Amino acid sequence: MVTEVLHWLAPKEGDVYVDCTIGTGGHSEAILEKARGRISLIGIDRDEETLKVAKEALKKYQSHISLVKANFKHLPQILKEKKIREVDSILYDLGLSSFQLKSRERGFSFRGSAPLDMRVDRSQKMTAAYLVNNLSAAELGDIFLRLGEERWARRVAEFAVRERQKSSLKTTWDLVEVVRKAIPAEVRKKRKIHFATKIFQALRIKVNQELENIKIALPLSFEWLRPGGRVCVISYHSLEDRIVKREFSEGKKNRLKILTKKVVKPSSNEILANPSARSARLRAAERL
Ligand SMILES: C[S@@+](CC[C@H](N)C(=O)[O-])C[C@H]1O[C@@H](n2cnc3c(N)ncnc32)[C@H](O)[C@@H]1O
Repeated sequence: MVTEVLHWLAPKEGDVYVDCTIGTGGHSEAILEKARGRISLIGIDRDEETLKVAKEALKKYQSHISLVKANFKHLPQILKEKKIREVDSILYDLGLSSFQLKSRERGFSFRGSAPLDMRVDRSQKMTAAYLVNNLSAAELGDIFLRLGEERWARRVAEFAVRERQKSSLKTTWDLVEVVRKAIPAEVRKKRKIHFATKIFQALRIKVNQELENIKIALPLSFEWLRPGGRVCVISYHSLEDRIVKREFSEGKKNRLKILTKKVVKPSSNEILANPSARSARLRAAERL
């Protein structure tokens, strides 16, 4: 949703811009181009490998950018260290990049068999394998239900616990096999999405504490915007969007004006060119 981000953030020369999820640098590059390179950009990402790609992609703007490997929930510390007191715009493009999804060994996708890892920050200890092999059936069931909204959550959790007693679940395909056995064939066949998608989504959100991070980071971001400064958030599933909507609404009590009266969806042209963008939802707000 590059066009929409440019519209809502309206970058201009001299701005201080923070990309809290720089990924491989696509949105930041468009922002830098729009402002003819004359902005200060702080690009944050938890993923070291992704940052290397962004650094290369944004090479021609290197004197204007500063890349930081960090969790965006630490935004205040990052800005204080750089002696920045307020910023003009902040972008969150949540979730994962296609670069990460395509890196088979990261274990985010079940298209190929890979270790059950799913860590965005690979220096973190907790992995998806740890969760599925150590949590109780009740705890796993809660995660699958709450974070995956999977109707068969409890049964998948029970099957996982039963299977791991025979041998621990090590790979993405070990887990897909558990889900396949737990969800009846007629239910699996009727699904529009792969039958393991919701379980994988739930584990990924849990491993990376995705919802907690947004809940912490958003209100902090509002504090760092100068009057007239803007924040823009793109989310990819209803659990995230619900938090964004709620935090924006809370922000209204504290000098935040919501700019997007309704959530903004990608254009049909964008969905046609990039089907994975279909679930994107954008919200923008301005500090008064
Ligand atoms: C959808 S991608 C961003 C793509 C980017 N806008 C682009 O144009 O290339 C989301 C990025 O956010 C990063 N990320 C997710 N959670 C994070 C967090 N709590 N702190 C910092 N980065 C995070 C991921 O590693 C990933 O690279």
